[in-house]
Amino acid sequence: MAKRPRIFATEDAVQLAKRRLPRMIFDFIEGSAGREAGAKRNETRFDDIMLQPRVLSNVGTRSLTTRFLGREYGLPLGIAPMGMCNLACPDADAHIARIAKGRQMPVCLSSAGSSSLRDMNSWSGGMAWFQLYFGQSVESSLLAADRARDAGYDTLILTVDVPEVSRRIRDQKNDFNLPFKMTPNAFLDFALHPRWSLSTLANGIPKPRNFADQHKGFDRKASRAGANWAFLETLRERWTGRLIVKGITSPKDAKRAQDLGVDAIYVSNHGGRQLDSAPPAINLLPIIRRAVGSDFPLLFDSGIRNGEDVIKALVLGADFVMLGRPVLFALAAAGRSGLDSLLQCFVEDIDLVMAQIGVSKIDEIGPQALFTDTAQTLHPKLIPSPEPLSAAT
Ligand SMILES: Cc1cc2nc3c(=O)[nH]c(=O)nc-3n(C[C@H](O)[C@H](O)[C@H](O)COP(=O)(O)O)c2cc1C
Repeated sequence: MAKRPRIFATEDAVQLAKRRLPRMIFDFIEGSAGREAGAKRNETRFDDIMLQPRVLSNVGTRSLTTRFLGREYGLPLGIAPMGMCNLACPDADAHIARIAKGRQMPVCLSSAGSSSLRDMNSWSGGMAWFQLYFGQSVESSLLAADRARDAGYDTLILTVDVPEVSRRIRDQKNDFNLPFKMTPNAFLDFALHPRWSLSTLANGIPKPRNFADQHKGFDRKASRAGANWAFLETLRERWTGRLIVKGITSPKDAKRAQDLGVDAIYVSNHGGRQLDSAPPAINLLPIIRRAVGSDFPLLFDSGIRNGEDVIKALVLGADFVMLGRPVLFALAAAGRSGLDSLLQCFVEDIDLVMAQIGVSKIDEIGPQALFTDTAQTLHPKLIPSPEPLSAAT
């Protein structure tokens, strides 16, 4: 029997995924906009954030249970919406959903997901949220939300940071398209990865099936530039469940969405896939926290690679954190057991970091755990203080 690959960190999953996936698929997952500097910054900025260890805090009994939007989750962590997860490995959506059920984590079904609303909700035991992209019209977009409601969903995420799909150079070089176009390059790429190709063929090449304008066929490049604040207002009136807006990076936009009555804001720069020059998402979190006040629910993603990053996001103002690319790399690396191993690493990290910073419960994690350089306080002239955070006007 083949030995199971061992995953101790996201980096292991990335290396294995790189070997197992056709280049075109790996690049679709890993790639981002422009020169990909923004995606790198999302990750490296976490290295600059330091946590302050605390001792003798009696942290023998710790819990990762997290209350968010009126519901209890097993972790402060969920799975971000990602289109076409089944390209990572056959049945990826089912694996993600079943693991989410087991660990009591929310899992988002994307508008560009290839599993049905009902299947995802049933595999996940009701832990699924639906992510909506604005379609060709207000009406078709509202109908997509209605379909989610009819399938039993109570949480809707409206993603607003893709007015147009950005130019992702790797995808262009690889001729990556949905539905697939079998170019000579793609044929060669697939032939060099027979394990992936045969299993994907045997399971049927995944196709997006939850987008708003289903009758027209899926167009990955379709413009969503017509979406506006009036649409959000209309959606708020129509969707009586919990409404989250994803892709907000400006404090002004955050305030406006809050005033429109959304239930939570999801701070994200789409993992650098949309605007290469966007600020690193983690830098925006405290600014948006300041804009919306201390009690307003905030989710965060973009650049989370281990459990310590999750804690840092909570310290800087998030109430809940979402995991993106690492999920797909772990699935590509070793299927369901790969994802389970990676999530176990996150659980252990979060738990052990809590012990180090002297907290026993997730809601005790806050800015007090942030290390601020005393040299900066004592010698402000030696180390210039950072720019003041912009006001939330
Ligand atoms: C392959 C892939 C597909 C994605 N598809 C969607 C999508 O359909 N809807 C959406 O809101 N975000 C989508 N995202 C963005 C993720 O939800 C998330 O914001 C991003 O992956 C976070 O960055 P990180 O993976 O670098 O941590 C996608 C990301 C990837 C990598």
